[in-house]
Amino acid sequence: MKIDVLSIFPDYLAPLELSLPGKARAKGLLDLAVHDLRTFTHDRHHTTDDTPYGGGAGMVMKPEPWGEAFEALGVTSDTTIIFTTPSGDRFDQRMAQELATRPRLVFACGRYEGIDQRVIDHAREIGTVEEISLGDYVLNGGEVAALAIIEAVVRLIPGFMGNPESLVEESHSDRTAGLLEYPVYTKPPVWDGREVPAVLRSGDHGAIARWRHEQARRRTAARRPDLLAPSALPDGSPIVRAVPGDAGELMTLQRACWVQEALANPGVPIPALHETLDDVRGWMGEWDTYVVRRAGRLVAAVRGRLEGPDSDTWDIGRIMVAPDLQGEGLGRALLEHIQAAAPATATSYVLFTGAGSERNLKMYKKAGFRLRSDVEAPPGAVVLTKARRRRS
Ligand code: 6GU
Repeated sequence: MKIDVLSIFPDYLAPLELSLPGKARAKGLLDLAVHDLRTFTHDRHHTTDDTPYGGGAGMVMKPEPWGEAFEALGVTSDTTIIFTTPSGDRFDQRMAQELATRPRLVFACGRYEGIDQRVIDHAREIGTVEEISLGDYVLNGGEVAALAIIEAVVRLIPGFMGNPESLVEESHSDRTAGLLEYPVYTKPPVWDGREVPAVLRSGDHGAIARWRHEQARRRTAARRPDLLAPSALPDGSPIVRAVPGDAGELMTLQRACWVQEALANPGVPIPALHETLDDVRGWMGEWDTYVVRRAGRLVAAVRGRLEGPDSDTWDIGRIMVAPDLQGEGLGRALLEHIQAAAPATATSYVLFTGAGSERNLKMYKKAGFRLRSDVEAPPGAVVLTKARRRRS
């Protein structure tokens, strides 16, 4: 793989000479070069930035040095040009794996308020462009991000890892299966009065694997519940946690949806139809609520919570999909999402719907819920439950 990095602070990238990328270069798997963008300027001050058209704070990186640099580096159609920017796609392991298969990467490290948009448009014409962000925070420039991305990518280049087994193992590990790492221990067996868990010293490999998996799952549920829940609809729209500012739109959506319910269940009292904005704000504080937006519009939602503080039953409700988007599978995806979002302690799910809501009943039954005539339901409604399958 060939990697070029363009930056006005090439010294920032000195660590690339060390550690992992250094090893890859020594093995001949990686040809890496860092270039000073100022080399491609022609004025006495080596200017790379200028004031923004339209006004505003900060400076914008000028297009000419970038254009010259891409030409000097010989960017071609098999080159991926990576712009590191806080407004890019979020970097993750899947992206690292994908980038590790590309023959040539050129990192364009932006500074100041950004790079003239025409540079990115031009780059799209001569190569493949990825705009990548490390996460939702702002760094002064893209250099540190480029370092992080390079380190993540280079260790995945085929042949780089001394022991290829370790990568194979990694690709099947809990981490890449979407769970956080389990806790690890080494000698001594007792330190500071703290013992290594007995199972790890038992020699029972099956028991050790089960223990590690359970630890990883618990950790993930506690720290990153978003990793356990399928977080997108079939079309890729993200399912995100509701924020207080969503209350007004939620109220509007729920009214629209439960008018349909009222028509399907004549005479049945329906709280969702009568709630005020404050009522909605109130329950949002007590439930885990998730919403879906399309083109900015709040189009679907669902909520879940444990029935009580010590309960092992996860109560699911208010599955709502905007009337014009019903029948596309959004409700089913939300139902799946809210089941996966239940805490590890939950052993069953419960929900209710109008006795006359045939479409809902059909969807719930298809998802494995069973009618429970033995469980008391609100007037005009029926209760459905489902046992939770243990993740093993
Ligand atoms: Cl890629 N660049 C900058 N400037 N800030 C960031 C970032 C990138 N990723 C997160 N914050």
